Amino acid sequence: MSNIQNKNTWLHKAYTEFSMALVNNANLKSYAEPLIQPLFPLWSANDYRAQVKQVRSESQNCYTLVLKPTKKWPDFQPGQYVELQVIKNGAKVSRCFSISSPPEQFAQLGTIELTIRAQDKGRITPWLKQALTETSTVGLSAAQGDFIIKDRSRPILMIAGGSGITPFRSYLYSQAMIEPTQKASLLYYARNQGEHLFEQELNSIGDGNKHLTTHLISTAEMGHFSLEQLQQQCPNYLDYDIYICGPNSMIKAVNNVLLDAKVNEQNIYIERFGPAPVDFSQLDKAGTVNFSQSRKSAELGSHTSLLALAENIGMQPESGCRMGICHKCSCRKKSGVVYNTLTNSYSDTGQEDIQLCVSVPVGEVIIEL
Ligand code: FES
Repeated sequence: MSNIQNKNTWLHKAYTEFSMALVNNANLKSYAEPLIQPLFPLWSANDYRAQVKQVRSESQNCYTLVLKPTKKWPDFQPGQYVELQVIKNGAKVSRCFSISSPPEQFAQLGTIELTIRAQDKGRITPWLKQALTETSTVGLSAAQGDFIIKDRSRPILMIAGGSGITPFRSYLYSQAMIEPTQKASLLYYARNQGEHLFEQELNSIGDGNKHLTTHLISTAEMGHFSLEQLQQQCPNYLDYDIYICGPNSMIKAVNNVLLDAKVNEQNIYIERFGPAPVDFSQLDKAGTVNFSQSRKSAELGSHTSLLALAENIGMQPESGCRMGICHKCSCRKKSGVVYNTLTNSYSDTGQEDIQLCVSVPVGEVIIEL
């Protein structure tokens, strides 16, 4: 057995070295991908591909992509997300989105749905809606993430804000399609009545199902999440596992109410759509970031990630999740100090690998990009 493994390792190493020598790429198939994909759009060297089946508007600024992944795409669990890869202006860009449809839909129809909010000043999310049609193909990762129901024997309370409903929609549909046994309650917040995504579906999904309850709450009329609302809508909340998904400000406020209400921290699960907010008031705003390979530079005016800074000056560094998970944006810092918003720590001044999406420059910094 170990002889076979050694041989495989040796062969893989030889293949990698041969490929690097020939085309400066560790994988010959990846190198050929741009040539092959125009002829066979659903072919990919490493990741999976998917056919766009529908682009459906959900509200003024939200839409759903219905995708049919290629055959080998693995299954997923409600609460997981995928990385979607597309080509924009000749550059490969990717973004991560929660799957908003249930696994049962994938099993029956072979399709998954991603519900996307077009960010006000976003480069990709507003563009995707215009660029993708029913003849488009996209790259797709396997499902990732651990915002999944941890314990099926305990009741769960889901607290969502805005487009944070997407992972819960997957779960609620899944529960409605199978024989539900787990007690589940949803508190879904939007500013005004009529602004809740999937309002009709959510109002009817629990019909005739004593295990599911949904409450669509308007903050303009009823205020933000509070202990009183919690006690009213879910009186036995201390027995529940609590899942929260929504904007960072909402997550922070909800979490504080729960902790004040003596909810055990271990029973709270959080999914963010970006890195946790950081108080930058102490950081040095002056200085220049130099991107050494592209010979571009940016002056620091406000605290923003190195990824956003590079994009603001027209660069297109590779990125994926934009929240410190996928490591696609990793690159070499040659000198200077950056603040990591994920670990809340400063780097040293010397050379090291950093993630652009969660690194905020502090003063003069040189990045090998
Ligand atoms: S884009 Fe995923 S870690 Fe930075």
